[in-house]
Amino acid sequence: MGSTTPASTGADFVVVANRLPVDLERLPDGTERWRHSPGGLVTALEPFLRARKGAWVGWPGIADADVAPFEDGDLRLHPVSLSSDEFRDYYEGFSNATLWPLYHDVVATPVFDRTWWDVYVRVNQRFAEATASVAAEGATIWVQDYQLQLVPAMLRDLRPDLRIGFFLHIPFPPVELFMQLPWRTQIVRGLLGADLVGFHRPGGAQNFLWLARRLAGFQPTKGSVGVRNRPGVVQVGDRPVRVGAFPISIDSSSLDQLAASEESARRAAQLRADLGNPRRILLGVDRLDYTKGIDLRLHAFRELLAEERVDASDTVMVQLATPSRERLEHYKKMREEIEREVGRINGEFSRLGRPAVHYLHSSIDRKDLVAFYCAADVMVVTPVRDGMNLVCKEYVACRNDLGGALVLSEFAGAAAELTSAFLVNPHDLEGVKDALEAALNIDPAEGRRRMRALRRQVLNHDVDRWARSFLEALGAQPNR
Ligand code: ADP
Ligand code: G6P
Repeated sequence: MGSTTPASTGADFVVVANRLPVDLERLPDGTERWRHSPGGLVTALEPFLRARKGAWVGWPGIADADVAPFEDGDLRLHPVSLSSDEFRDYYEGFSNATLWPLYHDVVATPVFDRTWWDVYVRVNQRFAEATASVAAEGATIWVQDYQLQLVPAMLRDLRPDLRIGFFLHIPFPPVELFMQLPWRTQIVRGLLGADLVGFHRPGGAQNFLWLARRLAGFQPTKGSVGVRNRPGVVQVGDRPVRVGAFPISIDSSSLDQLAASEESARRAAQLRADLGNPRRILLGVDRLDYTKGIDLRLHAFRELLAEERVDASDTVMVQLATPSRERLEHYKKMREEIEREVGRINGEFSRLGRPAVHYLHSSIDRKDLVAFYCAADVMVVTPVRDGMNLVCKEYVACRNDLGGALVLSEFAGAAAELTSAFLVNPHDLEGVKDALEAALNIDPAEGRRRMRALRRQVLNHDVDRWARSFLEALGAQPNR
C-alpha cells in the first residue's frame, strides 16, 4: 500500500476506536437520534478528548449508515461506515465471538472463522485509511482496543510521519491462549506498527513481549515492566516499540462533585423510598456480558436468602444491565439465564410490592446512576475476567460520605489497585457469600477506613493521569 498525503488542515490529535462516543439510533418511526455510546472505553476517553479538542474516528453504531463528518461540541467526529455483512463478520464475529472470549480467558469458546478474519482485515484497513486522511503532518494517533489491532501497522504504511499509540482496554490473555489464534502472528505484527503499545497490567505487556519474540522473531528487552514505568522495548528495524502498563481510570473529581451535590442526595433518598426504604441495598451495574459474573452474584444472593443469612424483608438487590451485543448466541443465553434466576429469586423471596431483586434491562442516565451509587450500601462487582472495570471506581468516587462497601472480583484489573475492597474469587460461591454478608454487616468505622483508602487511590489516579502517562511515554505532548 502506497503512502497518503497528510491532510493540510488535518487534526494534530486523533483517537481511533471502533465506536464513536455517540451512537446513532434508528427509531421505529424511521427517525434517528444520537445517544451516548455504551462501555468503559467511551466513559474514560470522552472527557479527556473533549478537553483537548481532538478528532475521533469511529463507527456510528448502526450498519449501513453513511454519516458525514460533524462537530460535537469541541470534538470533530469522523464516522466510518460498516455494511450489515461487515457488522456481522467484523464486529459480531471476529471482534466479539473470536477475540472477546479468547482474550477473556475463553470463558466462552472462541470461534475461528476465516471469512470473519478477512473482513476484520478489510475493516481495519478502512479505519487506517480514514485516519490517514484526517491526520495532520506529524500528528499523534491513539488507536483503541481489540477491534483495531491491525490499524497501527496499516497506518504506519500509509503515513510514516505519524506518532502512533495503541491501547488495549480488555485483558491481554496468557500466551498459551493467544497461541490458539490462527492469525496470531498478523495480530502481533499489526500491534508492532505502533510506537507504544499499552495494556492495563504489567502481565499483559509481559505476555506481548514474549509473543513478539516467539512469533515475530524480535529480541525484546528482558526486565520486568512496571506500572506507568519501565516499559519493555522491541526493536523493529530502526524503530523502537515501547510496551507498557497504564491502568485506566475515570474522571474521578467530576463524579465526586456530582455525587456531593444536593440534587444527588435528594435523588438517592427518593430512590431508597421508591425501593420501600430497605435497611440495605446491594447494587450491580454492568453491560449485560457473560464476563461480568451477574449470574454468580445472583446465585450467591439467592443462597444467602435461602440460608436466612440475609432477610428479604429488609434487604434488596438492584441489578442495572445495559443491553449489549444482543444478537450473539452467548449473550442471548446468558440473558435468559439471568432473567430466569431473577424470576426464581423473586418467586421464592418477594412479598407483594416488595421484590427481592429489581432488575432493569436498560441504560440509565448519568445523574440517576450517581444516585444509585450514592444509595447503595454494597456495590457488587464480580466479573470472571475484566480488563479494568470502571464501575467499581465510579462507585468509590461517588462515596465522599465514606459510606458503602465494595465487593470486587480478584479477576478485574481494578483489584490490583483497590486492595481495600472485599476481594473475592467469583468462582468460589461460599467465598462470595461470606464477602457479601461481611460487607452488608460491616462496622461503620471499618467501612469508613476502607472507603477512605479506596478513594485515595481513585481520586489520585484519574483518567487524566492515565492519558498523560500514556501520551508522555509515547513522546507526545499531553497538553497540546
Ligand atoms: P465495560 O467497558 O466492559 O462495559 P466498565 O465497567 O469498564 O465495563 O465500563 C462500563 C461503563 O458503562 C461505566 O462507565 C458504567 O457506568 C456504564 N454503565 C454500565 N451499565 C450501565 C447502565 N445500566 N446504565 C448506564 N451506564 C452504565
Ligand atoms: C468494552 C470494550 C469497548 C466497547 C465496549 C462496549 O468496554 O473494551 O471497546 O466499545 O465494551 O461494547 P460494544 O460492543 O457495544 O462497543
